[in-house]
Amino acid sequence: MKKLKRVLKVTEDGSHTFYMPDLDEHYHSTHGAIQESMHIFLNAGFHFTQQDTIHILEIGFGTGLNCFLTVTEAEKQNRKVIYHSIELYPLEKELVQNLNYANQTDKEFSTIFQKLHSCKWNEDVQINENFTLRKLQGDLIDFQFPSKYDLIYFDAFAPDVQPNLWSQDIFEKIYQATNSKAILTTYCTKGIVKRALRAAGFKVKRLPGPPGKREMLRATRINDFEPTGDQS
Ligand SMILES: C[S@@+](CC[C@H](N)C(=O)[O-])C[C@H]1O[C@@H](n2cnc3c(N)ncnc32)[C@H](O)[C@@H]1O
Repeated sequence: MKKLKRVLKVTEDGSHTFYMPDLDEHYHSTHGAIQESMHIFLNAGFHFTQQDTIHILEIGFGTGLNCFLTVTEAEKQNRKVIYHSIELYPLEKELVQNLNYANQTDKEFSTIFQKLHSCKWNEDVQINENFTLRKLQGDLIDFQFPSKYDLIYFDAFAPDVQPNLWSQDIFEKIYQATNSKAILTTYCTKGIVKRALRAAGFKVKRLPGPPGKREMLRATRINDFEPTGDQS
């Protein structure tokens, strides 16, 4: 996947995404990348939580869009965020610098977007007073999470493209790395994903999706869950 071609596209809300022709897969919804990210990860995830200091794990740093929107929302709410994001195939600098996510925002935030990408991997970086980022370069399949999290942004490529990332094993690993009452949000509502999440110890709720998508999922950790075996 590392060497695969990525083509810059404008989505329906004017924000960019990348398209990978070899996989016929986009990084975001073509109906609106910012719109989708705000709906699924910020409104159904970040804004649904209440911790003054929140530990977030993102699966798939990609363009940094979810991370960037979380920085801006954390500033508005004056909340502290410790943000870990795992990525196996970081985007090349030349691709990142064409992305238009920071164009509509204050200069302060446009500098921050570049900083999210230029900062070092695998170490804590203070992005601003409220936001600490650690980009983790590695493979979700065999990764040992260094912390416990309150909120998971599960933003892997679709199960048709990467079925091994949406398995019960992966969700069990994530369950082990979550705090009491943690939640996970994702765009994918496939039956196989819901079953794998339930079998791993999450209560799954369908919510209205962003424009162009009927539904999305929010899963809540069931504390003291006793696994009953493979149900996927
Ligand atoms: C749907 S895109 C992520 C979009 C990203 N959250 C954003 O806002 O741009 C999925 C991401 O998962 C990454 N990825 C694919 N396989 C992975 C793996 N095994 N471990 C970690 N990340 C992976 C891809 O490189 C890609 O950046």
